[in-house]
Amino acid sequence: MSDHSRLYIVGAFLLGVALTGVWKNSSIDDRPWNRRTERRMQQDQKRLSNTSKLSDPATLKKSLIEFFDQFEGSKGEVKEGIEGCIGGTPLIKIKSLSEATGCEILAKAEFLNGAGNSPKDRVALNIIEMAEKEGLLIPHSGDTIYEGTVGSTGISLAAICRARGYKAHICMPDDMAVEKSDLLLKLGAEVERVRPAPIVDQNQFVNLARTRAAEHTADPNKPGRGLFADQFETEANWNAHFVGTGPEIYDQTGGRLDAFVSGAGTGGTISGVSLFLKQKLPELKVVLADPPGSGLYNRVKFGVMFDPKEREGTRRRHQVDTIVEGIGINRVTHNFEIGRELIDDAVRVTDDQAITMARWLVENDGIFIGSSSAVNCVAAAKLAKQLGPDHRIVTLLCDSGARHLSKFWANTEPIGGKNDVSLHEILN
Ligand SMILES: Cc1ncc(COP(=O)(O)O)c(C=O)c1O
Repeated sequence: MSDHSRLYIVGAFLLGVALTGVWKNSSIDDRPWNRRTERRMQQDQKRLSNTSKLSDPATLKKSLIEFFDQFEGSKGEVKEGIEGCIGGTPLIKIKSLSEATGCEILAKAEFLNGAGNSPKDRVALNIIEMAEKEGLLIPHSGDTIYEGTVGSTGISLAAICRARGYKAHICMPDDMAVEKSDLLLKLGAEVERVRPAPIVDQNQFVNLARTRAAEHTADPNKPGRGLFADQFETEANWNAHFVGTGPEIYDQTGGRLDAFVSGAGTGGTISGVSLFLKQKLPELKVVLADPPGSGLYNRVKFGVMFDPKEREGTRRRHQVDTIVEGIGINRVTHNFEIGRELIDDAVRVTDDQAITMARWLVENDGIFIGSSSAVNCVAAAKLAKQLGPDHRIVTLLCDSGARHLSKFWANTEPIGGKNDVSLHEILN
């Protein structure tokens, strides 16, 4: 018997068994899901009939595998609420940067986390679950989570709070893109936008959130308690990446990677991922991507928290002097310090380089990202040039460009216009 006939007989038999299973499970009434099942059965029959016409054994085999994968994939497909859509993000190859540098540049698509659409979903969920375990939060009691955030953590907390029966109160600097505070309001969070201020100021957004949580707990007229999420200092932050992002990167690359590149805001991502990956891959190079005005570059390179802009007195803002949001900081945080020794090097990225990279990724790959992701990609491409071809570098795409339309993306050149960008322009 030829290969083809054998495959066909085995395939047809197995298809028959699979389809009988599906048919048996369907009932005869016409509720929507049964109508959907019926449509699916019709599609399966059509595919079966098309498969039977295939004469090339290789194509037939591929078609049968795809058919059975569809049944396999449908197992456990239902996610348990919005929290079930957090983690397990895809690792994607950025084709343009990989081709241009000769290195494989892979990006973990963290903007595909399903609650707040950033890596902060993992952190927010971990903070809430840890607090629930410690009995610090009671659903629908008026318990409220307070956080100081430039936006992403607040959005993740606000979404998960809704799903779990808590309230969210977010304090943020008033110079962050307005779409973030708009989104928070639509999620029903209370939002306080405050003037950017140094950490010694009691009205600095993180200090204010801590104060508001304490005020809530002390107020007998307010239902429930106030819980300060404290993303900069809490163990739940780096831990979320140590148990989630890090292991996922390791599995998705099969442990084959030479470098990991990430910016740091709280430092939770770079620390948690590095703490996990470096124990598995001691030779892995961890590189910080840092925007202008941040002291972290010098903290990694020279052990001191210092940015020349502080000395020159040219700072325009009180926090970090850049158009980039979410990364860069001028104080030591527990979440950065816990992994700092594992960071091998740092790359400075200018605002212009970040904006140009963001445009490059749209023009060449159709990838529309926000400012911190653009900084990550510039640093990853710079590192690729430094390491030379045939290395594998993993970085993160943290959030979508949609979160940055009014600021980072506001004054960019048109895509596909006369002024196409070159990678040379970005990296030099
Ligand atoms: C968009 C975005 N990217 C990156 C980061 C940095 O992550 P981490 O705080 O883990 O250092 C943040 C932090 O808020 C962020 O909002």
